[in-house]
Amino acid sequence: MDISSYKGYISEETMMGPNSVRILAELLERHPLQASAHDRILDLGCGTGLTSLVLAKETGAQIYANDLWVSGEDNGRRFAQWGVNGQVIPFRQDAKELHFEKEQFHALVSIDAYHYFAGYRGFFQEKLLPFLRDGAEVLIGVPGLKDAYRGRAGELLSGWLGGDACMLKSPAQWRELTGSHDRMKSVEIWEMDCFNEAWSDWLATENKFAAGDRQHFETVIKPYTCFVGMYIKL
Ligand SMILES: C[S@@+](CC[C@H](N)C(=O)[O-])C[C@H]1O[C@@H](n2cnc3c(N)ncnc32)[C@H](O)[C@@H]1O
Repeated sequence: MDISSYKGYISEETMMGPNSVRILAELLERHPLQASAHDRILDLGCGTGLTSLVLAKETGAQIYANDLWVSGEDNGRRFAQWGVNGQVIPFRQDAKELHFEKEQFHALVSIDAYHYFAGYRGFFQEKLLPFLRDGAEVLIGVPGLKDAYRGRAGELLSGWLGGDACMLKSPAQWRELTGSHDRMKSVEIWEMDCFNEAWSDWLATENKFAAGDRQHFETVIKPYTCFVGMYIKL
């Protein structure tokens, strides 16, 4: 996938953190998604829908762009502006209580969002697995703590994230939380390579949250954190 073809869509208005398109590109490079126009992909915690746009263009599938903080109306307007309404459909549902039809998704993608709602054992099996078809693929990228600092998120990250520090978990912790199930044929969890590029795209913006992150990047974010990639194949 050529990230430069999405340059016109990536801006301080559409970014909500480190460049989600770079994170998605790395996941797709490692695990390319094959889909047809009849397949449905759930983009869970899609924010402003940047990754939903990329998934639509790269796979040709129908994308269910679901988010909690950004309304379906806002995303619907953006998708119309981007010329993908019809192919990318906005939803506003809490990932902890989804109401989609069961066993319908060919793939589930979640970028920089999973840590907000999935940080307990059994979440995947209970809340997401029922919506996935057999053979489905799951691609997740989240900010996390490097394995070397496991168990020290509160101590090391609370100056930056306050009470949310404990949401950042290391690859080994995510492996334990993800667990297993008869329908889960393989699980892969690793520290991603796109850390520096994804962060520098975000820190270069004038977004007020990026300004806050800039103050902590060299002292906290860079030494202690990483992006955790997760791949699950049913
Ligand atoms: C940091 S933003 C990232 C958005 C987007 N994926 C990106 O990378 O630009 C985190 C997103 O997670 C979503 N989120 C948090 N909790 C959620 C929940 N319980 N259900 C669905 N989405 C949730 C928020 O609505 C928010 O848009």
